[in-house]
Amino acid sequence: MNRIAIKDILNSTSFNQEFSVSGWVRNKRGSKSVSFVILNDGSCIHDLQIIVEITDKFEDILKEINTGASISVIGTLIRSEGKGQSVELIAKSIRVLGIADPEHYPIQPKKHSLEFLRQNSHLRFRTKTFSSVFRIRHGLSFAIHKFFNEKNFYYINTPIITSADAEGAGEMFKVTSLNMNNLSFNSDGDVDYKDDFFGQQANLTVSGQLEAELAALGLSQVYTFGPTFRAENSNTSRHLAEFWMVEPEVAFYDLNQNIKLASSMLKYVSNYILENYLDDISFLSKRKENEEQTLKKEDRSPENLLKTIENIINTDFQIISYTDAFNILKNSKKNKKNKFQYPVIDWGLDLQSEHERFLVEKEFKKPIVIIDYPKSIKAFYMRLNDDNKTVGAMDVLFPGIGEIIGGSQREERLNILQSRMSEMSIPEKELWWYLETRKFGTVPHSGFGLGFERLVQFITGMNNIRDVIPFPRFPSHIEF
Ligand code: 4AD
Ligand code: MG
Repeated sequence: MNRIAIKDILNSTSFNQEFSVSGWVRNKRGSKSVSFVILNDGSCIHDLQIIVEITDKFEDILKEINTGASISVIGTLIRSEGKGQSVELIAKSIRVLGIADPEHYPIQPKKHSLEFLRQNSHLRFRTKTFSSVFRIRHGLSFAIHKFFNEKNFYYINTPIITSADAEGAGEMFKVTSLNMNNLSFNSDGDVDYKDDFFGQQANLTVSGQLEAELAALGLSQVYTFGPTFRAENSNTSRHLAEFWMVEPEVAFYDLNQNIKLASSMLKYVSNYILENYLDDISFLSKRKENEEQTLKKEDRSPENLLKTIENIINTDFQIISYTDAFNILKNSKKNKKNKFQYPVIDWGLDLQSEHERFLVEKEFKKPIVIIDYPKSIKAFYMRLNDDNKTVGAMDVLFPGIGEIIGGSQREERLNILQSRMSEMSIPEKELWWYLETRKFGTVPHSGFGLGFERLVQFITGMNNIRDVIPFPRFPSHIEF
């Protein structure tokens, strides 16, 4: 008999018919004559209750049915008279696929800390919290592809191994096949990459943007959605060394059109999750509320998760220039009382996450888009504004998260791009191909990068980015 997903059997009304289900036992309880086995297969947040009559036939097998064991059951579907579920399955036959010794199986039916579950990332998919998070992660990923497909964007795969440093921030992991115990050096004393796999130094990409631009300047509307890598030593709840980025790039778009694209994408995917994953969101919303009970009132979220997501869908994002944002921060009581770790004194200051969160959570109380940043704190490819001091950048900041998107209009004018590169000591010969798109048929264009895990964090309400990617990579951590 074919297995039916628990999600489907819970919605079935084919009472008195036989079904086959498989999954992992969450719990078992019962009396002398009957045992209730709570089964989940990851297809939804809800469990199926299986009724096992304690007869000779089942007595031995029930001893093996402990939390974490995997079983297959054939049984008859009945309407449930109990609370909390609409159907139940009366077991006719049970096969234990794999036992889980209760002495050693770590995921017991009780509350575990997220840190404990992180150490057990190989098993945490079986918990309600993590199965919800990863179902939603899938839903968001699907919704992103759906959004761009409906808008006639092409999905482009940009290289993971690259020789270019797209962000010019030098936070790259090296890729090499050299024998690290027997390196050869050139006359300057530097490692000689001539004999390396690519005949030159190679890295893991920090962003697919530069290659996405090449594609956009031919296909007009493209996006990448791939892994990116940053060797920055940031041990925070918002940074990973390996994370996924969504990067649309659009020819003929200016900064305003870019902002509209970003906000409609964020609204679309948020709405998709509310329409398709409400059970998981409701569960995570309650989880967050419970979690926050231990916090001081002022540190709790102002509303529940569902409402937070609805707000994203229903409010217009506030657009504000860097200069205006800087002035708000500089003149704020908090700054005057010297309560920022990084005091706001001189124009040109790079905004820290404390500043971003102040603007979003205290000042505007809604998502904001900061534009026109000082050129000195942004990448070389951003389009220089007429004031010669700022560039057409756009960072989207979300409540509870801070920066979720970074993007810009791109510098399409060859001579200005060249002088920006020289100001920032970026050798033209490394990016000759990028420059050629400005030599031949250049057009105004724009794009942005969405940190996918930050989006998953926002939608699931999980505090730590390490809990929204199956196997997080961060400093000193590469287990699993
Ligand atoms: O602002 P970033 O560095 O922008 C770029 O890389 C551009 N090339 C994107 C583009 O215009 N195509 O990164 C984009 C986003 C950030 O806003 C943030 O959400 C996320 O990527 N991000 C990280 N997420 C997790 N861990 C990290 N270490 C991250 N660094 C950036
Ligand atoms: Mg950024």
